[in-house]
Amino acid sequence: STLVATTLLAGSLSAQAITVGFSQVGSESGWRTSFSESVKAEAEKRGITLKFSDAQQKQENQIKAVRSFIAQRVDAIVIAPVVETGWQPVLMEAKRARIPVVIVDRNVSVSDQSLYLTRIAPDFELEGQKAANWLVEKTEGQCNVLELQGTVGSSAAIGRMKGFNDVLKQNPGVKIVRSQTAEFTRAKGKEVMESLLKAEGGGKNVCALWSHNDEMALGAIQAIREAGLKPGEDILVVSVDAVDDALKAIADGSINVSVELSPHLGGPAFDVIEEHRKGKKEFDKWIRMGGAVYTSENAAQELAARQAK
Ligand code: AHR
Repeated sequence: STLVATTLLAGSLSAQAITVGFSQVGSESGWRTSFSESVKAEAEKRGITLKFSDAQQKQENQIKAVRSFIAQRVDAIVIAPVVETGWQPVLMEAKRARIPVVIVDRNVSVSDQSLYLTRIAPDFELEGQKAANWLVEKTEGQCNVLELQGTVGSSAAIGRMKGFNDVLKQNPGVKIVRSQTAEFTRAKGKEVMESLLKAEGGGKNVCALWSHNDEMALGAIQAIREAGLKPGEDILVVSVDAVDDALKAIADGSINVSVELSPHLGGPAFDVIEEHRKGKKEFDKWIRMGGAVYTSENAAQELAARQAK
């Protein structure tokens, strides 16, 4: 038993000795906040020292953070990138310093795949497809859609837009009549929706809102109400993330559907880092996370299940 105790102690000490730098996008959405909280909780549970850096939605801040993690000689770096491009130089610096990098959530577009161990993320295109399929079915293929895009240049916006539009190509009666970015935030979601509704003559001929995330959708439903229309009825609301607030809105009828994105990406990222430290060299380049689709049929039940945890 002394041996067991010593081994356990050594195990936890070595885990405690790991320092991981995490460059997070920002705190633009409820989903992002849950994701940050989940990473912090997971690090604490594992005895990992986490250096957390909030980039406030700016890639230049992320690059600075990564350089500072390298200078501090952290054991591993986790990056949730704001946008896809512009990563190659700093990732090469990490590689030269022999610090392994794990990408989570949005993607990086680099020509050298050896610059990171793996990416842990959902399939953004599939999310867009699921959202569009729901809308096509609900409207029997006839609908004028307003789109609120996420951050320009982010994989989440690029992928969701592509997936949604791919389904629309097969269903030409469902059309995006206006589309604009609202940067994934609630305030912009409201503001941009107001102007889109105005541009559409108050919104009487608009059948649905396709929002790249719940946060913007939650802002937009206020704008819909202020325009004298009923969100969820006069204008259908289709979204992504399935955060608790969106499930509540689905239960009360103001959002119709949200495609789930799990915020629990920290655990799998630390698993990869720990396996790498134990000697594993090759990882699949994309560890794919799935997600359910929530509607009035299952949102309340899911919310209760989450609250019971
Ligand atoms: O990259 C994932 C997206 O970023 C989430 O859907 C959104 O809420 C967040 O801001």
